Amino acid sequence: MIGGTRRLGEVLAVLSGKGGTGKTSVCAGIATALAESGERILCIDCDVGLRNLDISLGLSDSGALSFLDVCSGGYPLDRAEKHPDYPNLFFLTAPMNCGAEQIDPEAFGQMLRRARLEFDFVLLDAPAGVDAGFRLVTETADRFLVVTGAGPAAIRDASRVGELLELAGKKHVRLVVNRVDRDMLSTVRVTIDDVMDISGLPLAGVVLEDVNVTLAASFGQPLLRYAKRCDAAKAFRRIARRVQGFPEPMKLR
Ligand SMILES: Nc1ncnc2c1ncn2[C@@H]1O[C@H](COP(=O)(O)OP(=O)(O)OP(=O)(O)O)[C@@H](O)[C@H]1O
Ligand SMILES: [Mg+2]
Repeated sequence: MIGGTRRLGEVLAVLSGKGGTGKTSVCAGIATALAESGERILCIDCDVGLRNLDISLGLSDSGALSFLDVCSGGYPLDRAEKHPDYPNLFFLTAPMNCGAEQIDPEAFGQMLRRARLEFDFVLLDAPAGVDAGFRLVTETADRFLVVTGAGPAAIRDASRVGELLELAGKKHVRLVVNRVDRDMLSTVRVTIDDVMDISGLPLAGVVLEDVNVTLAASFGQPLLRYAKRCDAAKAFRRIARRVQGFPEPMKLR
C-alpha cells in the first residue's frame, strides 16, 4: 500500500538444513492459508537451480519472473506473478542458470525492503543445506520456521540449524514437525517434547503425514484448494494463525 500507513511486512523463512523435510510444501501451505485469511503475501522460491515452489502453489504453468529478474533491477516488484486462485498472493520463482553464491545479498535485501512496504508477509522457501542459499535467507529474514521430520537424524539436523540461527543472533525461530505418522502419535509426542528440550526451539506446529500433499502437487493444485479439510491443510491453517499472532491450540488433527 504505497503512501499508506500500514505496518511493515515481515519476512518469514522456511528452512531445515536437511533435504526433503517438506520446506516447500510447508511454505506453500502456510502462504495459501495466510492469503485465505486476507493477508497480502509474496512467496519467493530461494532454491536457486532446483526450484519447485511453483508446483506446490499450483503455479507450474505460470512462467513467473525469478527474484533475480527483480533484484537485479530488470523488473519492478509489481510484476511478480499473481495467483489465479488467491488474488492477494504473489510469487517470484528462483533463477535456474546460476548458483546461490552468485546472488548479491545486498540486492536481495534491498528487494525485500521494498517488499515489506507492499506485503504483510514475505515467505522465503530455503534450499536444503547450510551454504550460500541458506545464508542468503537467514541474513534477510526476521522469523524462521525450521521444518523437521520426527526421526532422530532429522531432529539432530533441526537442532543444529537452531544453533546456527542462534549464533547468527536470530530470535524468532520455531519448529514445524512434518510428516508425522498418525499411528505413532504417542511415541512421536515424546520425541517432539525431546526435540524442543534439546534444541530449545518452541513448536509452531505439527503436520501429519498426508497423501493429499503429494496428490495436490501431482494435480498442479494448491493443497488448500485440492483438499480443503485434510489433516495437512488444517495444520497449515493453524500454523498460519500462530504466525499471525493468534492463540491457537496445539492440535494434531
Ligand atoms: N505432510 C506431508 N505428508 C505427506 N507428504 C509430504 C508432506 N510434506 C511433504 N511431503 C512430500 O515430501 C516430498 C518432499 O517435500 P518438499 O519438496 O516440500 O520438501 P523440501 O524440504 O522442500 O525438499 P528439498 O530439500 O528438496 O527442497 C514431496 O513429495 C512432498 O509431496
Ligand atoms: Mg524445497
